[in-house]
Amino acid sequence: MSRIVIVSNRTPGKGPAAGGLAVALRKVLSEREGFWFGWSGKLTEQPARDARIEDIDGLKVAQIDLSREDHHAYYAGFSNSILWPSFHLRLDLATIESHWYEGYRRVNQQFAKALLPLLKPDDVVWVHDYHLIPLASELRQLGARNRMGFYLHIPFPTTDALYAIPHHEELMRDLSRYDLVGMQAKRDVVAFTEFAEHQAPSTFGGHKVQAIDFSRTEVDAFPIGSDPDAFARLSVSPAATKMVNRMKRVLGDQRLILGVDRLDYSKGLPQRVEAYEKLLANNARLRRSVHLLQVAPPSRDSIKEYQETSDTLDAMCGRVMGHFAEPDWQPLTYVKRAYGQPSLAGLYRMARVALVTPLRDGMNLVAHEFVGSQNPDDPGVLVLSRFAGAAEIFPEGLLVNPFDTDETSEALRMALDMPLDERKQRWAALMKSAQKHNVDDWAVSFLNHLTQGGPDKPSAT
Ligand code: G6P
Repeated sequence: MSRIVIVSNRTPGKGPAAGGLAVALRKVLSEREGFWFGWSGKLTEQPARDARIEDIDGLKVAQIDLSREDHHAYYAGFSNSILWPSFHLRLDLATIESHWYEGYRRVNQQFAKALLPLLKPDDVVWVHDYHLIPLASELRQLGARNRMGFYLHIPFPTTDALYAIPHHEELMRDLSRYDLVGMQAKRDVVAFTEFAEHQAPSTFGGHKVQAIDFSRTEVDAFPIGSDPDAFARLSVSPAATKMVNRMKRVLGDQRLILGVDRLDYSKGLPQRVEAYEKLLANNARLRRSVHLLQVAPPSRDSIKEYQETSDTLDAMCGRVMGHFAEPDWQPLTYVKRAYGQPSLAGLYRMARVALVTPLRDGMNLVAHEFVGSQNPDDPGVLVLSRFAGAAEIFPEGLLVNPFDTDETSEALRMALDMPLDERKQRWAALMKSAQKHNVDDWAVSFLNHLTQGGPDKPSAT
Protein backbone atom coordinates (compact mmCIF):
# COMPACT_ATOMS: atom_id res chain seq x y z
CA MET A 1 0.00 0.00 0.00
CA SER A 2 1.40 3.42 -0.90
CA ARG A 3 2.25 5.94 1.81
CA ILE A 4 -0.04 8.90 2.39
CA VAL A 5 1.28 12.40 2.79
CA ILE A 6 -1.13 14.93 4.31
CA VAL A 7 -0.39 18.59 3.66
CA SER A 8 -2.13 21.48 5.40
CA ASN A 9 -1.29 24.97 6.55
CA ARG A 10 -1.50 24.01 10.22
CA THR A 11 -0.06 20.76 11.50
CA PRO A 12 -1.39 18.89 14.55
CA GLY A 13 0.29 20.09 17.72
CA LYS A 14 1.55 18.25 20.75
CA GLY A 15 -0.88 16.97 23.35
CA PRO A 16 -4.32 15.43 22.84
CA ALA A 17 -5.45 15.94 19.24
CA ALA A 18 -8.16 18.59 19.11
CA GLY A 19 -10.67 18.01 16.30
CA GLY A 20 -12.15 14.81 14.91
CA LEU A 21 -10.59 15.61 11.56
CA ALA A 22 -7.07 15.57 13.01
CA VAL A 23 -7.84 12.28 14.78
CA ALA A 24 -9.14 10.66 11.56
CA LEU A 25 -6.15 11.82 9.53
CA ARG A 26 -3.74 10.64 12.21
CA LYS A 27 -5.37 7.23 12.00
CA VAL A 28 -4.92 7.16 8.21
CA LEU A 29 -1.26 8.09 8.60
CA SER A 30 -0.57 5.47 11.23
CA GLU A 31 -2.11 2.79 9.00
CA ARG A 32 -0.33 3.98 5.86
CA GLU A 33 3.09 4.93 7.23
CA GLY A 34 2.80 8.44 5.99
CA PHE A 35 3.63 11.84 7.39
CA TRP A 36 2.04 15.25 7.81
CA PHE A 37 3.60 18.29 6.18
CA GLY A 38 2.89 21.95 6.93
CA TRP A 39 3.88 25.24 8.49
CA SER A 40 5.60 24.98 11.88
CA GLY A 41 3.76 27.97 13.34
CA LYS A 42 7.14 29.78 13.57
CA LEU A 43 8.14 32.98 11.80
CA THR A 44 11.85 33.59 11.27
CA GLU A 45 14.00 36.13 9.47
CA GLN A 46 15.57 33.66 7.05
CA PRO A 47 13.71 30.39 7.09
CA ALA A 48 15.64 27.24 6.22
CA ARG A 49 14.71 25.67 2.92
CA ASP A 50 14.51 22.11 4.24
CA ALA A 51 11.76 20.77 6.46
CA ARG A 52 12.38 19.69 10.07
CA ILE A 53 11.06 16.24 10.78
CA GLU A 54 9.74 15.52 14.23
CA ASP A 55 7.88 12.78 15.98
CA ILE A 56 4.86 14.36 17.65
CA ASP A 57 3.06 11.84 19.88
CA GLY A 58 3.89 9.00 17.48
CA LEU A 59 3.03 11.00 14.36
CA LYS A 60 5.72 11.91 11.83
CA VAL A 61 5.44 15.63 11.09
CA ALA A 62 7.62 17.62 8.64
CA GLN A 63 7.47 21.37 9.04
CA ILE A 64 8.92 24.53 7.61
CA ASP A 65 9.17 28.01 9.10
CA LEU A 66 8.10 31.05 7.10
CA SER A 67 9.27 34.63 6.97
CA ARG A 68 6.97 37.15 8.63
CA GLU A 69 6.46 39.01 5.37
CA ASP A 70 5.59 35.95 3.28
CA HIS A 71 3.33 34.59 5.97
CA HIS A 72 1.40 37.84 6.18
CA ALA A 73 0.79 37.98 2.42
CA TYR A 74 -0.05 34.27 2.25
CA TYR A 75 -2.19 33.83 5.37
CA ALA A 76 -3.79 37.08 6.58
CA GLY A 77 -3.55 38.52 3.07
CA PHE A 78 -4.40 36.33 0.11
CA SER A 79 -5.87 33.35 1.98
CA ASN A 80 -7.98 35.11 4.58
CA SER A 81 -8.67 38.58 3.16
CA ILE A 82 -9.29 37.49 -0.45
CA LEU A 83 -10.01 33.77 -0.81
CA TRP A 84 -11.97 33.30 2.43
CA PRO A 85 -14.43 36.20 1.96
CA SER A 86 -14.84 35.52 -1.78
CA PHE A 87 -15.44 31.80 -1.34
CA HIS A 88 -18.00 32.69 1.35
CA LEU A 89 -19.64 35.22 -1.01
CA ARG A 90 -18.66 38.21 1.13
CA LEU A 91 -17.00 40.35 -1.52
CA ASP A 92 -17.98 43.38 0.58
CA LEU A 93 -15.53 42.14 3.23
CA ALA A 94 -12.69 41.26 0.84
CA THR A 95 -9.59 43.43 0.65
CA ILE A 96 -8.26 43.06 -2.83
CA GLU A 97 -4.54 43.71 -2.65
CA SER A 98 -3.40 41.69 -5.62
CA HIS A 99 0.31 41.82 -4.63
CA TRP A 100 -0.51 39.38 -1.81
CA TYR A 101 -0.78 36.77 -4.53
CA GLU A 102 3.01 36.81 -4.91
CA GLY A 103 3.49 35.92 -1.24
CA TYR A 104 0.81 33.23 -1.51
CA ARG A 105 2.52 31.74 -4.53
CA ARG A 106 5.97 32.00 -2.89
CA VAL A 107 4.82 30.11 0.19
CA ASN A 108 3.33 27.37 -2.00
CA GLN A 109 6.65 27.18 -3.82
CA GLN A 110 8.49 26.89 -0.50
CA PHE A 111 6.14 24.10 0.55
CA ALA A 112 6.79 22.30 -2.75
CA LYS A 113 10.58 22.66 -2.58
CA ALA A 114 10.74 21.37 0.98
CA LEU A 115 8.26 18.55 0.39
CA LEU A 116 9.68 17.19 -2.88
CA PRO A 117 12.85 15.62 -1.40
CA LEU A 118 10.71 13.78 1.16
CA LEU A 119 8.43 12.18 -1.44
CA LYS A 120 8.79 8.63 -2.75
CA PRO A 121 7.52 8.04 -6.29
CA ASP A 122 4.40 6.16 -5.26
CA ASP A 123 3.44 8.33 -2.29
CA VAL A 124 -0.08 9.69 -2.51
CA VAL A 125 -0.32 13.37 -1.59
CA TRP A 126 -3.48 14.77 0.01
CA VAL A 127 -3.54 18.58 0.19
CA HIS A 128 -6.04 20.39 2.43
CA ASP A 129 -7.77 23.71 1.94
CA TYR A 130 -7.64 27.04 0.20
CA HIS A 131 -4.20 28.07 1.51
CA LEU A 132 -2.58 25.50 -0.76
CA ILE A 133 -4.46 25.45 -4.07
CA PRO A 134 -1.24 25.87 -6.16
CA LEU A 135 0.72 23.14 -4.37
CA ALA A 136 0.20 20.36 -6.95
CA SER A 137 1.15 22.71 -9.76
CA GLU A 138 4.33 23.71 -7.97
CA LEU A 139 5.23 20.10 -7.17
CA ARG A 140 4.59 18.99 -10.74
CA GLN A 141 6.73 21.81 -12.04
CA LEU A 142 9.56 20.38 -9.96
CA GLY A 143 8.97 16.96 -11.55
CA ALA A 144 6.67 15.16 -9.08
CA ARG A 145 4.43 12.61 -10.79
CA ASN A 146 2.64 11.34 -7.67
CA ARG A 147 -1.10 11.06 -7.43
CA MET A 148 -2.35 14.21 -5.74
CA GLY A 149 -5.70 15.07 -4.24
CA PHE A 150 -7.09 18.32 -2.93
CA TYR A 151 -9.89 18.77 -0.43
CA LEU A 152 -11.64 22.11 -0.07
CA HIS A 153 -13.02 22.49 3.46
CA ILE A 154 -14.89 25.70 2.64
CA PRO A 155 -17.64 26.35 0.07
CA PHE A 156 -16.76 26.73 -3.60
CA PRO A 157 -17.80 30.21 -4.82
CA THR A 158 -20.25 31.13 -7.54
CA THR A 159 -18.59 32.02 -10.84
CA ASP A 160 -18.99 35.78 -10.44
CA ALA A 161 -17.46 35.74 -6.94
CA LEU A 162 -14.61 33.69 -8.36
CA TYR A 163 -14.04 36.35 -11.01
CA ALA A 164 -13.43 38.89 -8.25
CA ILE A 165 -10.33 37.00 -7.11
CA PRO A 166 -7.09 38.24 -8.61
CA HIS A 167 -5.42 35.48 -10.67
CA HIS A 168 -8.48 33.24 -10.42
CA GLU A 169 -7.67 31.79 -13.87
CA GLU A 170 -4.31 30.60 -12.67
CA LEU A 171 -5.79 29.22 -9.45
CA MET A 172 -8.36 27.21 -11.37
CA ARG A 173 -5.61 25.94 -13.66
CA ASP A 174 -3.76 24.91 -10.49
CA LEU A 175 -6.83 22.95 -9.42
CA SER A 176 -6.70 21.06 -12.72
CA ARG A 177 -3.26 19.71 -11.79
CA TYR A 178 -4.80 17.51 -9.08
CA ASP A 179 -6.09 14.03 -9.87
CA LEU A 180 -8.99 14.41 -7.48
CA VAL A 181 -10.68 17.48 -6.03
CA GLY A 182 -13.08 16.89 -3.12
CA MET A 183 -15.74 19.34 -2.06
CA GLN A 184 -18.02 19.40 0.98
CA ALA A 185 -21.41 19.51 -0.67
CA LYS A 186 -23.23 18.90 -3.95
CA ARG A 187 -23.88 22.64 -4.07
CA ASP A 188 -20.10 23.16 -4.38
CA VAL A 189 -19.74 20.65 -7.19
CA VAL A 190 -22.58 22.40 -9.03
CA ALA A 191 -20.82 25.76 -8.62
CA PHE A 192 -17.54 24.29 -9.81
CA THR A 193 -19.21 22.62 -12.81
CA GLU A 194 -20.84 25.88 -13.77
CA PHE A 195 -17.43 27.52 -13.86
CA ALA A 196 -15.75 24.61 -15.66
CA GLU A 197 -18.46 24.32 -18.32
CA HIS A 198 -18.92 27.98 -19.02
CA GLN A 199 -15.34 29.03 -19.25
CA ALA A 200 -14.44 29.02 -22.89
CA PRO A 201 -11.59 30.43 -24.91
CA SER A 202 -12.32 34.11 -24.55
CA THR A 203 -10.69 37.45 -24.40
CA PHE A 204 -10.34 38.88 -20.94
CA GLY A 205 -8.75 42.24 -20.35
CA GLY A 206 -7.53 42.22 -23.95
CA HIS A 207 -5.69 38.86 -23.58
CA LYS A 208 -6.69 35.60 -25.13
CA VAL A 209 -7.54 33.18 -22.37
CA GLN A 210 -7.33 29.43 -22.98
CA ALA A 211 -10.08 27.32 -21.46
CA ILE A 212 -8.80 25.12 -18.63
CA ASP A 213 -8.77 21.40 -19.30
CA PHE A 214 -10.28 19.62 -16.31
CA SER A 215 -10.61 16.30 -18.14
CA ARG A 216 -8.00 14.58 -16.00
CA THR A 217 -9.34 15.88 -12.70
CA GLU A 218 -12.17 14.10 -10.95
CA VAL A 219 -14.32 16.49 -8.93
CA ASP A 220 -16.89 15.19 -6.49
CA ALA A 221 -18.60 15.83 -3.15
CA PHE A 222 -17.15 14.03 -0.13
CA PRO A 223 -19.12 15.50 2.78
CA ILE A 224 -16.99 15.43 5.90
CA GLY A 225 -18.42 14.22 9.21
CA SER A 226 -17.44 13.71 12.82
CA ASP A 227 -17.34 10.64 15.06
CA PRO A 228 -20.84 10.84 16.59
CA ASP A 229 -20.44 7.66 18.62
CA ALA A 230 -17.27 9.05 20.20
CA PHE A 231 -19.21 12.23 21.04
CA ALA A 232 -21.98 10.12 22.57
CA ARG A 233 -19.40 8.55 24.90
CA LEU A 234 -17.63 11.83 25.55
CA SER A 235 -20.88 13.59 26.46
CA VAL A 236 -21.28 11.35 29.54
CA SER A 237 -17.58 11.32 30.47
CA PRO A 238 -16.52 12.72 33.88
CA ALA A 239 -15.11 15.90 32.28
CA ALA A 240 -18.36 16.53 30.39
CA THR A 241 -20.44 15.79 33.47
CA LYS A 242 -18.39 18.28 35.46
CA MET A 243 -19.27 21.00 32.94
CA VAL A 244 -22.94 19.94 32.93
CA ASN A 245 -23.10 20.14 36.72
CA ARG A 246 -21.50 23.59 36.75
CA MET A 247 -24.02 24.81 34.19
CA LYS A 248 -26.97 23.21 35.96
CA ARG A 249 -26.12 25.12 39.13
CA VAL A 250 -26.34 28.38 37.19
CA LEU A 251 -29.27 27.56 34.92
CA GLY A 252 -31.66 25.80 37.27
CA ASP A 253 -34.57 24.80 35.05
CA GLN A 254 -33.90 27.33 32.29
CA ARG A 255 -33.51 25.73 28.89
CA LEU A 256 -30.16 26.22 27.24
CA ILE A 257 -29.82 27.53 23.69
CA LEU A 258 -26.25 26.96 22.55
CA GLY A 259 -24.01 28.38 19.82
CA VAL A 260 -20.39 27.31 19.32
CA ASP A 261 -18.43 29.01 16.54
CA ARG A 262 -15.09 30.57 15.74
CA LEU A 263 -15.57 34.32 15.90
CA ASP A 264 -15.90 34.70 12.14
CA TYR A 265 -18.23 36.89 10.08
CA SER A 266 -19.27 33.83 8.07
CA LYS A 267 -20.92 32.36 11.16
CA GLY A 268 -23.80 34.85 11.27
CA LEU A 269 -23.37 35.67 14.94
CA PRO A 270 -24.94 39.17 14.94
CA GLN A 271 -27.95 37.81 13.03
CA ARG A 272 -28.23 35.02 15.59
CA VAL A 273 -28.25 37.40 18.53
CA GLU A 274 -30.85 39.50 16.72
CA ALA A 275 -33.04 36.41 16.24
CA TYR A 276 -32.75 35.67 19.96
CA GLU A 277 -33.59 39.27 20.79
CA LYS A 278 -36.75 38.94 18.68
CA LEU A 279 -37.62 35.70 20.43
CA LEU A 280 -37.53 37.45 23.80
CA ALA A 281 -39.32 40.51 22.50
CA ASN A 282 -42.17 38.52 20.93
CA ASN A 283 -42.56 35.80 23.57
CA ALA A 284 -42.59 37.37 27.01
CA ARG A 285 -43.48 33.96 28.51
CA LEU A 286 -40.03 32.66 27.53
CA ARG A 287 -38.09 35.27 29.48
CA ARG A 288 -36.52 33.72 32.59
CA SER A 289 -37.05 30.25 31.15
CA VAL A 290 -34.33 30.27 28.45
CA HIS A 291 -30.67 31.19 28.31
CA LEU A 292 -28.42 31.66 25.29
CA LEU A 293 -24.80 30.59 25.68
CA GLN A 294 -22.62 31.65 22.78
CA VAL A 295 -19.09 30.26 22.80
CA ALA A 296 -16.98 32.14 20.25
CA PRO A 297 -13.20 31.71 20.42
CA PRO A 298 -11.41 34.61 18.67
CA SER A 299 -9.99 33.87 15.25
CA ARG A 300 -7.69 35.70 12.78
CA ASP A 301 -7.89 38.76 14.96
CA SER A 302 -5.14 40.65 13.14
CA ILE A 303 -7.67 41.19 10.33
CA LYS A 304 -9.85 44.29 10.56
CA GLU A 305 -13.09 42.58 9.48
CA TYR A 306 -12.71 40.05 12.29
CA GLN A 307 -12.13 42.80 14.86
CA GLU A 308 -15.24 44.56 13.59
CA THR A 309 -17.35 41.41 13.90
CA SER A 310 -16.11 41.05 17.45
CA ASP A 311 -17.01 44.68 18.26
CA THR A 312 -20.46 44.30 16.70
CA LEU A 313 -21.13 41.24 18.75
CA ASP A 314 -19.96 42.92 21.96
CA ALA A 315 -22.37 45.76 21.31
CA MET A 316 -25.30 43.49 20.43
CA CYS A 317 -24.87 41.24 23.45
CA GLY A 318 -24.63 44.36 25.63
CA ARG A 319 -27.84 45.68 24.08
CA VAL A 320 -29.76 42.46 24.74
CA MET A 321 -28.46 42.34 28.30
CA GLY A 322 -29.37 45.98 28.94
CA HIS A 323 -32.83 45.50 27.52
CA PHE A 324 -33.87 42.14 28.97
CA ALA A 325 -31.65 41.30 31.95
CA GLU A 326 -32.98 41.67 35.46
CA PRO A 327 -31.03 41.65 38.70
CA ASP A 328 -31.73 37.94 39.06
CA TRP A 329 -31.88 36.84 35.40
CA GLN A 330 -29.47 37.10 32.50
CA PRO A 331 -30.71 36.32 29.00
CA LEU A 332 -27.32 35.32 27.66
CA THR A 333 -23.71 34.49 28.30
CA TYR A 334 -21.12 35.28 25.68
CA VAL A 335 -17.74 33.59 26.08
CA LYS A 336 -14.79 34.48 23.86
CA ARG A 337 -12.72 31.45 24.71
CA ALA A 338 -12.12 27.96 23.33
CA TYR A 339 -13.18 24.86 25.26
CA GLY A 340 -11.94 21.30 24.92
CA GLN A 341 -14.10 18.62 23.33
CA PRO A 342 -15.21 17.01 26.63
CA SER A 343 -16.62 20.30 27.95
CA LEU A 344 -18.28 21.02 24.62
CA ALA A 345 -19.78 17.53 24.49
CA GLY A 346 -21.30 18.16 27.93
CA LEU A 347 -22.72 21.52 26.79
CA TYR A 348 -24.13 19.98 23.60
CA ARG A 349 -25.83 17.28 25.63
CA MET A 350 -27.53 19.65 28.00
CA ALA A 351 -28.61 22.12 25.30
CA ARG A 352 -32.29 22.07 24.37
CA VAL A 353 -31.46 23.87 21.12
CA ALA A 354 -28.27 24.22 19.08
CA LEU A 355 -28.20 27.32 16.94
CA VAL A 356 -25.98 26.55 13.97
CA THR A 357 -26.75 29.46 11.69
CA PRO A 358 -23.75 30.40 9.53
CA LEU A 359 -24.43 32.68 6.57
CA ARG A 360 -22.39 30.23 4.51
CA ASP A 361 -20.29 27.30 5.65
CA GLY A 362 -18.41 24.41 4.04
CA MET A 363 -19.95 21.75 6.28
CA ASN A 364 -20.12 22.81 9.96
CA LEU A 365 -19.03 20.07 12.31
CA VAL A 366 -20.71 21.63 15.36
CA ALA A 367 -24.00 20.33 13.89
CA HIS A 368 -22.56 16.80 13.71
CA GLU A 369 -21.02 16.94 17.18
CA PHE A 370 -24.24 18.28 18.73
CA VAL A 371 -26.24 15.43 17.19
CA GLY A 372 -23.73 12.85 18.43
CA SER A 373 -23.86 14.20 22.00
CA GLN A 374 -27.63 14.04 22.57
CA ASN A 375 -29.38 12.02 25.23
CA PRO A 376 -31.63 9.66 23.17
CA ASP A 377 -34.34 9.91 25.85
CA ASP A 378 -34.47 13.70 25.84
CA PRO A 379 -32.70 15.02 22.74
CA GLY A 380 -32.28 18.67 21.82
CA VAL A 381 -33.26 20.32 18.53
CA LEU A 382 -30.91 21.42 15.77
CA VAL A 383 -31.71 24.79 14.21
CA LEU A 384 -29.56 24.80 11.11
CA SER A 385 -28.72 27.27 8.36
CA ARG A 386 -29.75 26.26 4.84
CA PHE A 387 -26.39 27.64 3.72
CA ALA A 388 -24.22 25.21 5.68
CA GLY A 389 -23.09 22.09 3.81
CA ALA A 390 -24.59 20.22 6.79
CA ALA A 391 -28.09 21.15 5.52
CA GLU A 392 -27.64 18.53 2.78
CA ILE A 393 -26.93 15.91 5.45
CA PHE A 394 -29.47 16.96 8.09
CA PRO A 395 -32.83 17.81 6.46
CA GLU A 396 -34.54 16.78 9.73
CA GLY A 397 -33.08 19.80 11.50
CA LEU A 398 -35.16 22.99 11.53
CA LEU A 399 -33.65 24.61 8.45
CA VAL A 400 -33.58 28.40 8.40
CA ASN A 401 -32.43 31.29 6.28
CA PRO A 402 -30.01 32.95 8.73
CA PHE A 403 -30.39 36.34 7.01
CA ASP A 404 -34.07 36.24 7.95
CA THR A 405 -33.98 36.80 11.69
CA ASP A 406 -37.79 36.52 11.96
CA GLU A 407 -37.60 33.03 10.51
CA THR A 408 -34.74 32.02 12.81
CA SER A 409 -36.57 33.46 15.80
CA GLU A 410 -39.71 31.47 14.88
CA ALA A 411 -37.64 28.28 14.42
CA LEU A 412 -36.19 28.87 17.87
CA ARG A 413 -39.67 29.17 19.33
CA MET A 414 -40.74 25.97 17.55
CA ALA A 415 -37.65 24.19 18.82
CA LEU A 416 -38.37 25.25 22.41
CA ASP A 417 -42.02 24.20 22.15
CA MET A 418 -41.35 20.93 20.30
CA PRO A 419 -42.93 17.90 21.97
CA LEU A 420 -40.64 15.12 23.16
CA ASP A 421 -41.91 12.62 20.57
CA GLU A 422 -41.07 14.87 17.66
CA ARG A 423 -37.68 15.69 19.15
CA LYS A 424 -36.91 11.99 19.45
CA GLN A 425 -38.06 11.26 15.91
CA ARG A 426 -36.06 14.04 14.37
CA TRP A 427 -32.99 13.24 16.42
CA ALA A 428 -33.07 9.53 15.49
CA ALA A 429 -32.98 10.50 11.80
CA LEU A 430 -30.22 13.06 12.41
CA MET A 431 -28.12 10.54 14.33
CA LYS A 432 -28.47 7.99 11.54
CA SER A 433 -27.15 10.55 9.02
CA ALA A 434 -24.33 11.60 11.36
CA GLN A 435 -23.27 7.96 11.72
CA LYS A 436 -23.47 7.44 7.97
CA HIS A 437 -21.11 10.40 7.49
CA ASN A 438 -18.45 9.24 9.92
CA VAL A 439 -15.13 11.06 9.51
CA ASP A 440 -13.14 7.81 9.25
CA ASP A 441 -15.28 6.67 6.32
CA TRP A 442 -14.87 10.09 4.75
CA ALA A 443 -11.07 9.82 4.79
CA VAL A 444 -11.10 6.25 3.49
CA SER A 445 -13.55 7.09 0.73
CA PHE A 446 -11.53 10.09 -0.49
CA LEU A 447 -8.29 8.10 -0.41
CA ASN A 448 -9.84 5.14 -2.19
CA HIS A 449 -10.93 7.42 -4.99
CA LEU A 450 -7.54 9.04 -5.10
CA THR A 451 -5.45 5.88 -5.03
CA GLN A 452 -7.69 3.89 -7.37
CA GLY A 453 -7.63 6.43 -10.15
CA GLY A 454 -6.93 3.55 -12.53
CA PRO A 455 -4.44 3.11 -15.37
CA ASP A 456 -6.73 4.84 -17.83
CA LYS A 457 -6.40 7.95 -15.73
CA PRO A 458 -2.75 8.95 -15.67
CA SER A 459 -1.71 11.56 -13.11
CA ALA A 460 -2.26 15.10 -14.23
CA THR A 461 1.24 16.13 -15.26
C1 G6P B 1 -11.63 26.70 8.74
C2 G6P B 1 -10.68 26.34 7.62
C3 G6P B 1 -9.43 25.64 8.13
C4 G6P B 1 -8.81 26.47 9.24
C5 G6P B 1 -9.82 26.75 10.34
C6 G6P B 1 -9.26 27.64 11.46
O1 G6P B 1 -12.20 25.56 9.26
O2 G6P B 1 -11.35 25.53 6.66
O3 G6P B 1 -8.51 25.45 7.11
O4 G6P B 1 -7.66 25.86 9.76
O5 G6P B 1 -10.94 27.41 9.77
O6 G6P B 1 -8.77 28.83 10.94
P1 G6P B 1 -7.26 29.30 11.09
O7 G6P B 1 -7.11 30.47 10.19
O8 G6P B 1 -7.12 29.63 12.54
O9 G6P B 1 -6.38 28.13 10.69
